[in-house]
Amino acid sequence: MGSVPDLRGNYSEAAADYSVEQRWERYTPEAHALYRRLFERQSKLVPRYACAEWIAAISQLDAAAEIPRFDVVSRQLRNKTGWEIVAVPGLIPDDAFFTHLASRRFPVTVWLRRPDEFDYIVEPDVFHDFFGHVPLLFEPSYADYLCEYGRGGLKAMRLDAVKMLARLYWYTIEFGLTHTPRGIRAYGAGLMSSGGELAYSVEDPKPRRLPFDLERVMRTEYRIDRYQDTYFVIDSFEHLMRETAADFAPIYARIRELPTLAPDA
Ligand code: PHE
Ligand code: CO
Repeated sequence: MGSVPDLRGNYSEAAADYSVEQRWERYTPEAHALYRRLFERQSKLVPRYACAEWIAAISQLDAAAEIPRFDVVSRQLRNKTGWEIVAVPGLIPDDAFFTHLASRRFPVTVWLRRPDEFDYIVEPDVFHDFFGHVPLLFEPSYADYLCEYGRGGLKAMRLDAVKMLARLYWYTIEFGLTHTPRGIRAYGAGLMSSGGELAYSVEDPKPRRLPFDLERVMRTEYRIDRYQDTYFVIDSFEHLMRETAADFAPIYARIRELPTLAPDA
């Protein structure tokens, strides 16, 4: 089994905020080797498909050889943008998740996928969370956006609007594309950690790439089990910040009366 299976989904040691100790010494050599292979495959794609901010950030991280030590990276992050990483056993409840983000703590799953999940895994693991999400936490505008998202999440819970806000996370933080001087590039974590969808999202003729439109994003359903039919393209992280700065309460009230849109509508 190799990749520390006892850590997967083990919530028994988690604190009230769902955090756990990373306990880095528990990772086996096989787990580090699998992580290294994942890192190598994705690193080859990055120069062609990732946005410049992501590329700049990964080059400051010494994260290629083995599963990173979260405390070391947290120290670097704190200096740059005030963020840190907290280890978690897997997916956590909305309120805990939003509270972490609002406090500039990014939850990273401790365990690594099994070798037979090299190409595809249904739930986040340390490779997706670290490689996909952590680099852009070094980018100040993105870092601010994600913190605001967390605060917005707590508010959406009070307004019974988490589903609409979750679509915004999906189409930006997970599967977002951005315009750059060199053409459309990826910044979403689900793309950055995917062996196949990263290139697909940027250059395949099949999916649609629509300009970012907040209300449309919040109404658009998504599929978690296959490549996306639709991507939304921002101009920059500052643009994304501006587009999401308004009070969402009246927007939620209006949108919840409208039909949702199919992923390929
Ligand atoms: N403006 C949002 C609100 O009022 C908060 C938010 C900001 C949500 C950025 C997501 C991203 O709820
Ligand atoms: Co993710």
